Amino acid sequence: MNAGIPPGGRVSGQRLARLLGEWRRRGARQGAADLAAAIRMLVLDGQLPAGTRLPAEREMAESLPVSRTTVTAALEQLRTDGLIASRRGAGSWITLPGRAGMTLPDGPAEGQGMIDLARAAQPAIPGLLAAVDAVRPRLPEEFAKLGYYEHGLPDLRERVAERYTARGLPTSPDQILITNGGHHAFVLALRLLVGPGDRVLVEQPTYPNALDAIRAVSAIPVPVPLNRDDWDLGGIEAALRQAAPRLAYLIVDFHNPTGLRLDAAGRERLGALLRRSRTPVVIDEALVEIDLDGDPLDGPPPMAAFAEDLVISIGSTSKSHWGGLRVGWVRASPELLNRLMSTRTAVDLGSPVFEQLVLAELMRDPEPALRQRRAELAVQRDVMIESLREHCPQWTVRRPAGGLCVWCELDAPVSTRIAVVAQNHGLRLAPGSRFGAQGGFERRLRLPYALPSEVLVDAVRRLGVVAAAVSGTGTFETDERLLSVT
Ligand SMILES: Cc1ncc(COP(=O)(O)O)c(C=O)c1O
Repeated sequence: MNAGIPPGGRVSGQRLARLLGEWRRRGARQGAADLAAAIRMLVLDGQLPAGTRLPAEREMAESLPVSRTTVTAALEQLRTDGLIASRRGAGSWITLPGRAGMTLPDGPAEGQGMIDLARAAQPAIPGLLAAVDAVRPRLPEEFAKLGYYEHGLPDLRERVAERYTARGLPTSPDQILITNGGHHAFVLALRLLVGPGDRVLVEQPTYPNALDAIRAVSAIPVPVPLNRDDWDLGGIEAALRQAAPRLAYLIVDFHNPTGLRLDAAGRERLGALLRRSRTPVVIDEALVEIDLDGDPLDGPPPMAAFAEDLVISIGSTSKSHWGGLRVGWVRASPELLNRLMSTRTAVDLGSPVFEQLVLAELMRDPEPALRQRRAELAVQRDVMIESLREHCPQWTVRRPAGGLCVWCELDAPVSTRIAVVAQNHGLRLAPGSRFGAQGGFERRLRLPYALPSEVLVDAVRRLGVVAAAVSGTGTFETDERLLSVT
């Protein structure tokens, strides 16, 4: 109770209600326990960072809506767990979890019995160690220089440009700016092109960190729902006309979370719409190399081929090679890159040289390792879908042609409930609401298949038990093996 009051932001009652989604178990009487569990999940998920001030109890009770007693009891539970601190007159705020003995799943899945299906990421690609060894002899030469490459290591810019050219979009190295990952690339583009109050058109659903980045520059996401199987280009056309967004952000290659891909005809039409409205667009190609049914070099041409002057392509090696490399890039006109560069110097002064050297080495002959990675992922995808059919037959699951996730359609709006209960079964999940600009998607669950097959089978088996328990048809309390996981 006597911790200092942190300077963090305040979450409003309405926003908390949106973030929480459908947190209540259907027909459950334990409202306070459910509410505490749902808030705990938002903290673990990074949605309520340490220092965030919670709404006053009365506001919370009105927005959720629940009784004041329920809120008081839930907050008391969170205080006991060490997740919040409170002071009379100052309210409650999130503190860092991690107190010894707290039964909170956190950190990596490995070694703790916890399986992490919240992150769609995988370990390093084969050949990374060999690439590290191969660049070693080049280090003395690099050490003799200053190590600042404003636009990135020349060799790497060349490799990235070659890959675009191989995908059907002639590109020169001076169109490439190396960044610290794809997300960094997007943040740079936002800082350059978007100001407070500007609108940014996004797909609905979309990549949650992109939504956070848009909000972080005080811009407003304008969501355009995807159709079940495709982009709603009519909807995009209307939004471009009516909302006049300053920028669009789209993931047309193995969209996260749906796995959808926009075909060449769709790209042609989208390009025409963007040209007509003169709207610049960031095309996120983080997943383009994860083509599980084809060859990335035979896919539809990159979106920039259809509206060259308006498209800012961003790339990442996190999904194709390893998230720990933290290397990504922007492809745009040299003029725009220079403007981006001047924005960047207010934030950082370049990307680490070691990682760039290693990636340039990996990209000298990228195909064999990438092919192996795709083949393994395709097997894992199919294993996950098979397991889902066995353990969650009531859900509808589409087989994505690429990317790292299946976007399951549930039989009831229970995604958040499933994610909350799953924590007690050794499963970390990102509920569907994470992927909507205004929450929602309670009938959806994103499941990455980036883990080894045997882990996926175990994860989906646990998920089946959780889903049955949440829908009231299961008896998870009696499953000793699963309970011992917590
Ligand atoms: C669509 C999309 N864009 C960007 C990123 C972030 O990439 P990076 O790790 O290179 O910052 C991810 C990672 O999940 C992603 O799925």
